[in-house]
Amino acid sequence: MTRADWEKSYVSAESALRDAGVENADLLKLEEVRVRFMGRKGALTELLKSLKDLSIEDKRELGPKAQGLKASFDALIDARKAALEDAGDAAALEKDAIDLTLPAIRPPKGRLHPLTTTLHEIARTFQLMGYSWAEGPFVEDERHNFSALNIPEGHPARDSHDTFYLQGLPLLLRTHTSTVQIHTMESIRPPLRVVCPGRAFRHEQIDATHSAIFHQVEGLVVDENIGLADLKGHLQTLLQKLLGASTKTRFRPSYFPFTEPSTEVDVKCFFCPGTGCAACKHTGWIEILGAGVVNPAVFKAAGYDEQKWSGFAFGVGVERVAMLLHGVPDIRAFYTNDLKFLKQFDENLL
Ligand code: PHE
Repeated sequence: MTRADWEKSYVSAESALRDAGVENADLLKLEEVRVRFMGRKGALTELLKSLKDLSIEDKRELGPKAQGLKASFDALIDARKAALEDAGDAAALEKDAIDLTLPAIRPPKGRLHPLTTTLHEIARTFQLMGYSWAEGPFVEDERHNFSALNIPEGHPARDSHDTFYLQGLPLLLRTHTSTVQIHTMESIRPPLRVVCPGRAFRHEQIDATHSAIFHQVEGLVVDENIGLADLKGHLQTLLQKLLGASTKTRFRPSYFPFTEPSTEVDVKCFFCPGTGCAACKHTGWIEILGAGVVNPAVFKAAGYDEQKWSGFAFGVGVERVAMLLHGVPDIRAFYTNDLKFLKQFDENLL
């Protein structure tokens, strides 16, 4: 090959490269171009190969020229490849775009029912005063619900309890948690301090303050020389811790067959300024617990020496306390399971 032929090939390779359309090529076309110029019989390959036919001087002069063309070919192809890759990345990003500034969806989270947290809070206050936790069955016999609690057959207190009896069986749903007083005394020796939180059942007309299913926290303390003053101290501690130090309470004389003397404790109504409303049955006060000094007849029935032991008992209405704590004027709200109602209660209250 002559120098003139070589220079002709160079010029035609150079212009072919210019016309190859590398700037707009896709990946397939780029590969085609690479083969056309740098394949085994490619224009650039041939050009580089034919350098060997030239004289030493021509080689020295034209060699760098040929290498220069090869370098610009490589640069052209690499630049296009990089551009195509960038565009691909950008398109993929666009396609799968997510907006990281959008607020995330909170997965729904369960929480304790306000009655559960209230019950725990009452029981915990007593646990701090040294009480232990006891539980008893919902289904009871008449002895545990009535007779052992000094409510014999024919006693008018039985009628006021509106009891659910189990059909054809001498069994009933406990009408109060006082049944656990008897279970406790049957199974452990005095002295003792127990709280017995749980559910109770009465066949009652349901209204803003009454539910056929409700909860109580029963308490029983048995020791030597225990009296009304101890009872008042423990209950006052509970009410101030639960409802605040400035809570107004009223200890009213009352009657329960299983305590003597007996008292009912009222808290100043939170829903009206004392003028009376549906929640306080127009009295300005809401009754939240019954209590008293254990009647010796109960100790006798449970097998405790009534000469030696004395004690007190109480039953706190959990729904009443929860209504006061959270400003809920209707007890039925706790049982309808409306999520909008339930979600208002902070799960950290416990
Ligand atoms: N058991 C009573 C009730 O349900 C409450 C109570 C408990 C009263 C313990 C005195 C002592 O009304």
